[in-house]
Amino acid sequence: EYVILNGEFIERSEAKVDIEDRGYQFGDGVYEVIRIYNGKMFTADEHLERLLDSGKKIDLNIPYTVGELKQLLEKMILKNKMELGIVYMQFTRGASPRNHAYPGADVLPAFTAYTRKAERPVDSMKNGVKALLIEDIRWLRCDIKSLNLLGNIMAKQKAAQSGCYEAIQHRGDTVTEGSSSNIAIVKEGKVYTHPATNLILNGITRRKINEICHENGIAVEESAFTLEGLKHADEVFMSSTSAEITPITEIEGKPVGSGTPGPVTKSLQDLFEKEIE
Ligand code: PDD
Repeated sequence: EYVILNGEFIERSEAKVDIEDRGYQFGDGVYEVIRIYNGKMFTADEHLERLLDSGKKIDLNIPYTVGELKQLLEKMILKNKMELGIVYMQFTRGASPRNHAYPGADVLPAFTAYTRKAERPVDSMKNGVKALLIEDIRWLRCDIKSLNLLGNIMAKQKAAQSGCYEAIQHRGDTVTEGSSSNIAIVKEGKVYTHPATNLILNGITRRKINEICHENGIAVEESAFTLEGLKHADEVFMSSTSAEITPITEIEGKPVGSGTPGPVTKSLQDLFEKEIE
C-alpha cells in the first residue's frame, strides 16, 4: 500500500515524520477527506480548493495547485487499486525546533496522504441514527479545516459513550453543526441549514445538498435554527463526506417527527445517489 510523503510515493511502513513536526506538536496544519466511488474521487476540486483556502487562512502556503494535487491523488488511488474508500490528506507547517511562532520560509510544509477502504454507511442511511446535544466549546474559526480537533473529538466521544452516532453542537440557543458533519432540519417541506460563517465548516456535502435543492425545487434556506427549532423539526439529517446524508431519527432519547427517516431526507438521498453514480 502506497502513501504520499512530501509528493513522493512510498510504502506506508517507510513513511516517517519528525517528532518536532508542528502538526504533531501544535495541530498546526489543515486536512481534507475525499470520497472515492468506483475508483474516482467525488467533488475533488471542491475539497482541494477548500484545502488551499484553509491553508491561506492560517498563512500556510501549500506549494501545489488543485490540478497537481488531483493528479498525485489519482495516481495513488490507481496504485492502491482503491475502488470504494476515502483519501485522507494533510499539510502541516513542517518540522522545526519547538516554538509557537511560525518558522521561517525555509521550513517546508509536510504533506502526507493515504487511501483507506470505506463502505458507504448503508444501514444508518436507511434506518436513521441517534444523536445527543452538546454545547459547542470550539474556537471561533470552525470554517478552517484545521488538524486541531479536540472540541470535535470530545463531542464525538460523548456521543459514542451514550450509544449515539453524532453529537449535535449548539452555541447557546443556536445549533451550529455536528462533531464531524453539518446538520439540517426540515420544517413544512423546507430545509434549513446554518449559513457558511466562521461557526461551521462549509461542508462540501452540505453545498451539494443545497445545489440539489435549488435544482429540484426543494425549498432551502441557509439560516441558523435554534434548539427549539430542532426539537419541533419534522426531519433532521446530518451530512458529510463519509456519512453522506444520514437521517437523525432520535435526539436525546426523543423521536424526531415520526421517528423514522422523513420524505424530504429520503428524496435528497435519492438525488444525491444519482450524483455519485
Ligand atoms: N467530516 N463539519 C465538520 C466539523 C466536519 O468535520 C465535516 C467533515 C463536515 C462535513 O464536511 P464535508 O461534507 O465536506 O465532508 C462538517 C469528515 C471529513 C467526515 O466525516 O468525512
